[in-house]
Amino acid sequence: MGVALAEKRRLEADIHLVDAKEQVERTLRGEIRSPVVASFFDEPTFTATHVAHDPVTKKAAIVDSVMDFDQAAGRTSFEGAERIIDYVRAEGLTVEWLLETHAHADHLSAAPFLQEKLGGRIAIGEKIRTVQEFFGKIFNEGTNFACDGSQFDRLFLDGDRFELGALSAIALHVPGHTPADMAYVIGDAAFVGDTMFMSDYGTARADFPGGDAHQLYKSIRRLMALPEQTRVFLCHDYKAPNRDHYVWETTVGAERTGNVHVHEGVDEAAFVAMRTARDQTLGMPRLILPSIQVNMRAGHLPEPEANGTRYLKLPLNLL
Ligand SMILES: [Fe+2]
Repeated sequence: MGVALAEKRRLEADIHLVDAKEQVERTLRGEIRSPVVASFFDEPTFTATHVAHDPVTKKAAIVDSVMDFDQAAGRTSFEGAERIIDYVRAEGLTVEWLLETHAHADHLSAAPFLQEKLGGRIAIGEKIRTVQEFFGKIFNEGTNFACDGSQFDRLFLDGDRFELGALSAIALHVPGHTPADMAYVIGDAAFVGDTMFMSDYGTARADFPGGDAHQLYKSIRRLMALPEQTRVFLCHDYKAPNRDHYVWETTVGAERTGNVHVHEGVDEAAFVAMRTARDQTLGMPRLILPSIQVNMRAGHLPEPEANGTRYLKLPLNLL
């Protein structure tokens, strides 16, 4: 059997993907409502936070929020999160979910702040435990730090369904960028985190601990098997050659035909060779050490020391 045929068979046999496809198709046919999505872009970290809601019940999910962080001063603040709170209140939404696509290495999550102000459950993929175990050691957290994901309110497995008002939603495990990456398909909208970027920019790195370019390829092919009209919302945009404005929304069809790294016809070996060579040229993200320390705690800061001050660690010569 050829590689392409084997891949086709694998995707056809993927029952959770079949569920997600059916959900998108039913939404596109108008049998279930489509979510309204508003996006908020944080330029310092190039992160797009998305707020998806059911227009009738007004139940909402906030995907990948950002805490403002001045690293030089060691100061946290919430101007970006406040803009989201203003929007949620102005629209009269009830926040049910604070979804994290993965433990981000380039920005700190504002999920606990938003939860305190707006409610909702903080959720991530259950493979976050793998990330917690690895980085728990890097930061020498000891036994006070639980590596069982208990800092989150819900840990999703591949194929888990959840509700957003009258809309149905499915969590898909899409590892590769990190071992814990999830995509959340809500109605006809897929929130894919860093699994894909805009078609003219390509894909995210796969060289973080537990990352794997082979897995990333398979995860992308999985998402690309969703119906072509599926709306795709990205966690980041960095502009691209010949594009001077930020964009964070695309479609499965546009990615399939146009993604510069991984459009249809690019095979796994070619993708892995490209991704591996490119990753070797990349330095660590500016905020990786503060980000992971906070995000592996579901966005909570480390406990204060005896003097009442909270500290972030800077492990030397480990990454
Ligand atoms: Fe990321």
